[in-house]
Formats: sequence, structure tokens, C-alpha cells
Amino acid sequence: MSHEKETDAHSGMETTGHEWDGIKELDTPLPRWWLWIFYGCIAFAAVYWILMPSWPGITGYSHGLLHDSARANVVKDLAGLQAQRATEANRLSTASLETIEKDPQLQAYALAVGQSIFGDNCATCHGSGGTGGKGYPNLRDDVWLWGGSLEDIQRTITYGVRADDPNTRFSQMPSFGRDKILQPDQVSDLTEYVVALSHRKADAAAVARAAPVFQANCAVCHGPQGLGNQAMGAPNLTDSDWLYGADRASIHDQIWNGHGGVMPAWGHRFDANTIKALTVYIHANAGGK
Ligand code: HEC
Ligand code: HEC
Repeated sequence: MSHEKETDAHSGMETTGHEWDGIKELDTPLPRWWLWIFYGCIAFAAVYWILMPSWPGITGYSHGLLHDSARANVVKDLAGLQAQRATEANRLSTASLETIEKDPQLQAYALAVGQSIFGDNCATCHGSGGTGGKGYPNLRDDVWLWGGSLEDIQRTITYGVRADDPNTRFSQMPSFGRDKILQPDQVSDLTEYVVALSHRKADAAAVARAAPVFQANCAVCHGPQGLGNQAMGAPNLTDSDWLYGADRASIHDQIWNGHGGVMPAWGHRFDANTIKALTVYIHANAGGK
């Protein structure tokens, strides 16, 4: 390897003096445009360091002359957005639920707010479409445990069901089998009775045996005809809509164990406007009865 600088005969450039296996390196200067951009970047970085937050320290960071802060910017943007929405929010807070439903603009606003809150807070239990699942009622149909009027829905959302709230909706079906209130064969007979109530084929002898037991133990909540009672959250047993399942095993399990679903109270988590928007959203999607 030679270390002699020389002038390259072909290009007229100086070489760096490095040579590998007969290949020599030209000492071509950097293009001027490239150099200017390079210096420009250095100058930009220096100015940026001075103006913007940039250097981390042990307990904080350099704030820069402009005191720019992404967090403060978000707060400012949100405040702007809230001011813009304040008019609609104001009208929402003074309007009654019925008025909101009748005012297309206000209803559209409530539906949008309701949908987004539902997706973040309610869909985990009620499903993303609100169609529910075992133990979690479908909110898209007009079958209600606790009532489907605007006021009923608002009350359920605000105070919850069997929830940690003094005003919560409450009732508890006894565990007739587990707590030995009824004999195992009585629970089996009652299962047939409930199947018959919902207009399906059932063991007639069992149904006859269960009839007085139903009147004595179940009618107080589900009604003498099994039509249910929304004041107790007791479902109608004569329809084809089942919270815990339509089959004999599910019905037997409910009579034996007396499950009671828990719906959280949202009154202390959301402001009154948000509850209103959710109420209008649920009511509208259930068919609005
Ligand atoms: C932790 C699960 C859970 C969450 C989260 C939840 N719910 Fe519920 N919800 C339930 C259960 C369980 C019931 C049924 C209670 C019962 O069995 O009586 C219910 C019942 C209801 C009912 C009454 C249905 C009827 O038939 O009367 C409404 C309305 C309702 N929920 C709305 C909401 C809204 C709105 C939200 C979100 C803000 C929400 N729920 C979040 C579990 C939940
Ligand atoms: C104190 C009131 C109460 C009494 C008494 C009661 N139930 Fe219930 N029952 C309920 C409630 C409330 C539910 C709904 C539970 C829930 O929402 O999680 C329910 C649910 C049911 C279900 C499930 C319905 C479904 O949609 O899945 C069946 C079946 C049932 N009861 C049958 C009976 C029978 C049979 C008796 C009498 C042996 C009885 N219940 C007595 C309150 C009562």
C-alpha cells in the first residue's frame, strides 16, 4: 500500500494517497450544495436547541425560549373543542329526555356522544353491538328486565343493578335448590313448568305437580302467569327471550342457584349530560318504546 499523494492523470484530481490492490482513492471535494445543506442542518439544530425543549437533565429538561409543550397544546386544543361544543352541551343539560328525542340536531349530538361512551364503557359486558350474551341483557330489543322507558333506562344506568349504590335497583331470586328451599324433584318439576310456560312441549305430570309450587314460590316476582315484573327485574318466562338460556339445563341451573346479574352504577362516574346521551342512545337503538 503506498501513501504518496499524486495527481490522477485521468481526472486531474489529487488522490488521498490510499491504494488497495492498485485501486486509488480520489480526494474529490464534497459538492458545494451538499455542504451548505449540511451547515444549514447544524445551524438549524443549534437554533432548535435554544428555542425548543431539547436537553434532558437529571430532574427535568431544558424548556427552550419558546416554552413549547405538547401537553399544553393538547390542553389548549381540548379547551377550544369544548368551547365549540358548549352550546350543544348546554342545550343537552337543560332539555328533558323527551325534548332531546324530538329535536333532530340535539338527538344526533346525543347519539354520537352515547355511541362513543357505550363503546368505551358498556360494550365489554353488553357486546360491541349491545346485543348482550348469557347473563348480559340484549339492549337492542324491546325486552326489558327493568323497563324500557327513557326514565327507566336513565335510572338503571345511573344507579345500576345490585350495584354499590344506595339507590341501586335490587331484587334477588332465592337459590331454591342450593339453599334447600325446595326439594331436588320440585326443582326438576318447576323446570318442566317453565318450559311449558314458554309454549314448549313439557312433561304434563311434572307441570301439574309444579303448578301450586310455582304459585307459592315464584308468582310473587314472576307473576301468577309468569309474565314477569319490571319493578322486581323479574323476567317474563312466557316469551322466547332468555337471559340465562332457553334449554332445560339453564332453566334448572337458574332455579337451583338463583343467579343475579350485577350492572355497575354510573351516576358517580359520568356527569348528567353523559347519562342523558347514553339513555337516548340506548332508547333509540332498542326501537324507542
Ligand atoms: C360489568 C358488566 C356491565 C357493564 C360494564 C355495563 N353493564 Fe349494563 N348490565 C349488566 C348486567 C349484568 C345487566 C343485567 C342486570 C340484571 O340481571 O338485572 C345490565 C343491565 C343493563 C340495562 C337494563 C336492561 C334491562 O333489560 O332492563 C341497561 C339499560 C344497561 N345495562 C345499560 C348499560 C350501559 C349504558 C352501560 C355503560 C355505561 C352498561 N350497561 C355497562 C352488566 C353491565
Ligand atoms: C324475589 C324474586 C324472585 C322469585 C321469588 C323468583 N324469581 Fe326467578 N328471577 C328473578 C329475577 C330478578 C331474575 C333475573 C335475574 C337476573 O336478572 O340476573 C329471575 C330469573 C329467573 C329465570 C331465568 C329467566 C331467563 O330469562 O333466563 C328463571 C327460569 C326463573 N327466574 C324461574 C323462577 C322460578 C321457577 C321461581 C320459583 C321457584 C322463581 N324464579 C322465583 C326473581 C325471582
